[in-house]
Amino acid sequence: MRHLVKNIGTLAGILEDGSLRKEGTAMDAVGTLENAYLTIEDGKIAGYGPSEEMPDENAFDTVIDAGRGFVLPSFCDSHSHVVYAGSRDGEFLDKINGLSYEEIARRGGGILNSADLLHNTSEDELYRQSVERVREVMRMGTGALEIKSGYGLTTEDELKMLRVIRRIKENVPIIIKATFLGAHDVGRAYRGRQAEYVRLVCSEMIPAVAAEGLAEFVDVFCDQGFFTTEETAAIMEAGAKYGLRPKIHANELAVSGGVQVGVSHNALSVDHLERTTQAEIESLKGSGTMPTMLPGASFFLGMPYGAAKDYIKAGLGVALASDYNPGSSPSGNMRFVMALGCIKMKLTPNQALNACTLNTAYAMGISDMAGSVTKGKIANLLVTAPMNSLAFLPYSYQTPLIRKVIVKGDVL
Ligand code: NIG
Ligand code: FE
Repeated sequence: MRHLVKNIGTLAGILEDGSLRKEGTAMDAVGTLENAYLTIEDGKIAGYGPSEEMPDENAFDTVIDAGRGFVLPSFCDSHSHVVYAGSRDGEFLDKINGLSYEEIARRGGGILNSADLLHNTSEDELYRQSVERVREVMRMGTGALEIKSGYGLTTEDELKMLRVIRRIKENVPIIIKATFLGAHDVGRAYRGRQAEYVRLVCSEMIPAVAAEGLAEFVDVFCDQGFFTTEETAAIMEAGAKYGLRPKIHANELAVSGGVQVGVSHNALSVDHLERTTQAEIESLKGSGTMPTMLPGASFFLGMPYGAAKDYIKAGLGVALASDYNPGSSPSGNMRFVMALGCIKMKLTPNQALNACTLNTAYAMGISDMAGSVTKGKIANLLVTAPMNSLAFLPYSYQTPLIRKVIVKGDVL
């Protein structure tokens, strides 16, 4: 199939130098072309150029009119927990009444509450609820989504979650990546026996996940009250034997050492980072690890926002993802994440766009095929209403400006 996107006011997110991520001053650069067209072949971007050079419309199977709006790469959301059962709106009330995330968790709520709900939900029902969330974020412009397990906390239920992720991958057109997060919390049967639970994760869960090829990445909640840096290292080392690259939850609740241990184990990303010091920034320099911040969780839990500008000033890249989950960020709206990046973290619109597209693509290992307008990349794109500048998108953050979502060349 050949598709033509015509009448583009501004084509933005063009990247021609083959870079897989943007760091430091490069984060503020977004390649643009005014008055443009773009062509798509077999689901991939085939070419683009100025409107005067547009090929004959009759040579295409479909023609998409961009209506003078911006055409942008779709959002890549490199950190989500969209496979879960039910919701935690009861805890939402506890939170309104003054309990903190940690207090709710200590009372047996939080992740364990979601694990109980998931255990009592059939695989089919879990799929039905979860794919609905994936369709929701697709409509809001997410073209690639990482999904974690971590509400199973038994071998059987972790496999159930990961099989649901596989089924989602088989049934939706966007790019899906799966991460095994057995060490999200200690399962109920192992409370008080954390070391044994870690052994279960390493010697039973990881081999079982690998045997079915259900995940590409391994994650650990390395934070105060959850898993230590030593436990995190052991789990990353067990995962590495099966080719699972780490993506680590770190420094959400405290400065945990999770960043350093992640970097030393070649993590693809270290995520959250609400609480970091200069030492974390130093440890990331020269590494292949993408610092990823989750402003939706800061917003929902009233936590500090990650110090993205300091990271960028130090020459690092920063990615922004949704963390869509029932406890700390019940939203997968990447446009809102981009807006929080600008409004709360003081990123420029260009930096925020790169943080939500190319750098999140990097943080899920797909920036060679997604995250920018580049020939040969998968044609997952957004068409906006006409806008004076890219800044209008995060500025007018509630206006329904995304007019069309293109996935592999097809308009959703
Ligand atoms: O990324 N912090 C750990 N995990 C999730 C929250 C999980 C939950 O509360 O259900 C997060 O914020
Ligand atoms: Fe998370």
